[in-house]
Amino acid sequence: MEEKKKIVFSAIKPSGDITLGNYLGAIKNWIGLQDEYECYYCIADLHAITVKQVPAQLRKRVLEILAIYIASGLDYRKSTLFVQSHVPAHSEASWILTCSANMGELSRMTQYKDKTSKLKENSSISAGLFNYPVLMAADILIYQADFVPVGVDQKQHVELSRDIAQRFNSAYSETFVLPDSKISESAAKIMDLTDPSKKMSKSDDNENSYILVLDPPDVIRRKISRAVTDSVGVVNYTDDQPGVKNLINIVCAIKGIRPEEVVASFEGRGYKEFKEYVAEVIVEELEPIQKKANELLTDKTQLEEIYTEGAMKANRIALKTLRKMQKKVGLLPAVLKYL
Ligand code: TRP
Repeated sequence: MEEKKKIVFSAIKPSGDITLGNYLGAIKNWIGLQDEYECYYCIADLHAITVKQVPAQLRKRVLEILAIYIASGLDYRKSTLFVQSHVPAHSEASWILTCSANMGELSRMTQYKDKTSKLKENSSISAGLFNYPVLMAADILIYQADFVPVGVDQKQHVELSRDIAQRFNSAYSETFVLPDSKISESAAKIMDLTDPSKKMSKSDDNENSYILVLDPPDVIRRKISRAVTDSVGVVNYTDDQPGVKNLINIVCAIKGIRPEEVVASFEGRGYKEFKEYVAEVIVEELEPIQKKANELLTDKTQLEEIYTEGAMKANRIALKTLRKMQKKVGLLPAVLKYL
């Protein structure tokens, strides 16, 4: 008999356009998990609205991300690709779990502290931002996920999900699988091109600091040619040359090679040549994805079919867990005659 596959859940929050960092740090690693695991890959639009979004842009971006998922090699016949808000159980489970989470642990979340330290006025911080990790716990737990592939910055949130799951299990009896984060060794942490001490971020104001998956080739070449390096002038892989190190990491993540190999092939050659090479490696990787994604985006009905199919499957699984949760905490089962 075939053994039951372990479950993987992950998501990207559509709060900005997808960067090369998102692609190399997340999506590219998800692709390889599809055969071994039962995978749920979500677009976390409810997380995106914890900060103000332009509604029309958010809608457009969700479709773009779905197109990028598919164009990159996530296969909707193997994995469940869906939009978070299409599965109401996420919000409902999130409320129940909010009642099992406590203020103390939520206030200790690094991402919350970082985000709110910039906003001085308490009144402008949404309660959604505070509850963000509980919604994330709901995402993960309602699919009974075993593994959650994320970058290191989200590890703390996955650990919190595990803590909440454990607390719920011991208060109400075994309900959730306890999830583990899966930090891939090869998942690259791609840094800001203009300030390699920061992570590459789609919310940065300076558009030269990141590369978008849908950036046209000439834009990619321009941004790489402007990337910050140093005055050493030699392609080395060292923390003393963080800009060059970041560019090497990009090449390695795309080609699956080791930094020494890149360094060796650029011995005695300058940054200009090196940057031209880096730009070509990126263009070569992204061009086919862009072509496919743009094709998909011209036919919205196909995308619609794919996310509807995904939502149907996700709803079926998520509802099972939600019903269990409702029952365990003592909510009276509804008789849904009005549906
Ligand atoms: N918070 C994650 C991020 O910003 C996105 C996300 C939402 C997520 N829900 C999730 C990641 C559940 C893993 C599991 O990157």
